[in-house]
Amino acid sequence: MLKNNLFLKALNGETVTRPPVWMMRQAGRYLPDFMALKKKYDFFTRCQTPELATKITLMPIDQIGPDAAILFSDILVVLQAMQLEVEMKDNIGPWIPNPVRSKIDLEKLIIPDIEEHLGYVMDAIKLTQKELNQRVPLIGFAGSPWTLLCYAVQGQGSKTFDKAKAFCFSKPKLAHDLLQKITATTILYLKQKINSGVNAIQIFDSWGGILSPEDYNIFSWPYIQQIIDEIKNKIPVIIFGKGCWFALHDMGKSGASAVGVDWTCSARNARYLSGGQVTLQGNFDPSRLLSPIPEITEAVYKMINEFGKDRYIVNLGHGILPNIPVDHAKAFVDAVKSYY
Ligand code: CP3
Repeated sequence: MLKNNLFLKALNGETVTRPPVWMMRQAGRYLPDFMALKKKYDFFTRCQTPELATKITLMPIDQIGPDAAILFSDILVVLQAMQLEVEMKDNIGPWIPNPVRSKIDLEKLIIPDIEEHLGYVMDAIKLTQKELNQRVPLIGFAGSPWTLLCYAVQGQGSKTFDKAKAFCFSKPKLAHDLLQKITATTILYLKQKINSGVNAIQIFDSWGGILSPEDYNIFSWPYIQQIIDEIKNKIPVIIFGKGCWFALHDMGKSGASAVGVDWTCSARNARYLSGGQVTLQGNFDPSRLLSPIPEITEAVYKMINEFGKDRYIVNLGHGILPNIPVDHAKAFVDAVKSYY
């Protein structure tokens, strides 16, 4: 039995004494212990070695104390398993030497056997659950098909993903075939993560917000809905779309247990647009963690009052930034714990 089930209660829409809290990208970046490990092992070695992934996953649990853990890994491991080469370069980020641009490129991608190609993630889940020893639930995750297409086609990070968009609008049939292949892989991957013991799944649509609402409904949402349909009866699902306020209505009635929002959408708008029933998650501006601690505390109380303590999961509106002092991250979590 879980010792702390606040997070699962909130996902389930149950009344709680205070909302649960965790932070997107909490496992890494700003933590000195993580930076020390980063010097010793390259990024994908950290992802592929269950002992390292477990150690990193537990760092924020021990040092900051959120109500849920998120497995240390990356959304891009799915593309690697599909046989697309992905590197992580210092100061550049993700780097795909041979991005997908043609039918031939697409045909080279496989729908992988999950145990064979992503078995290390499953081992990391099992080891992490053992080490967590029921302290808090463990979140597994995947990128949305659209967000993965952005990297697969662009070949690296971008503010506009112009090449990815050009691909979709000039070769829509290929784009849909790619999205469907990623979707099929993601469904198999998430089902295996569920079998391996995660307690909830979050889908990150980090680049959904660069699409118009119309194009979102063509290139992103239908594939996310397929994924949700396949897993929602097995486990609670959180759908987070950065900049996707226009999709909150569909997200609210998708069968997901919770919908994540970023800081550009007010609590009031998020409740209204999502239909008022679904649990919401968010939406503290990660940069605001640079404010003095007393201001962080006040802002957290205000945020909880605006969202309401029930059907709400306190989080940032996107991933924590590398320059956030650890004591400020902890102050964020502590503020939620002192809310009454
Ligand atoms: O809490 C956690 O950190 C859990 C693990 C996690 C990572 N990436 C580790 C990581 C999660 C949940 C992700 C998701 C992810 N990865 C997303 C979706 C969430 C979001 O932030 O929008 C995206 C778009 C990626 C792709 C990715 N991975 C980028 C763009 C980068 C480089 C820039 C950056 O964020 O640092 C990565 C590398 C990455 N993934 C790092 C970490 C801790 C930093 C690099 C390193 O540690 O060497």
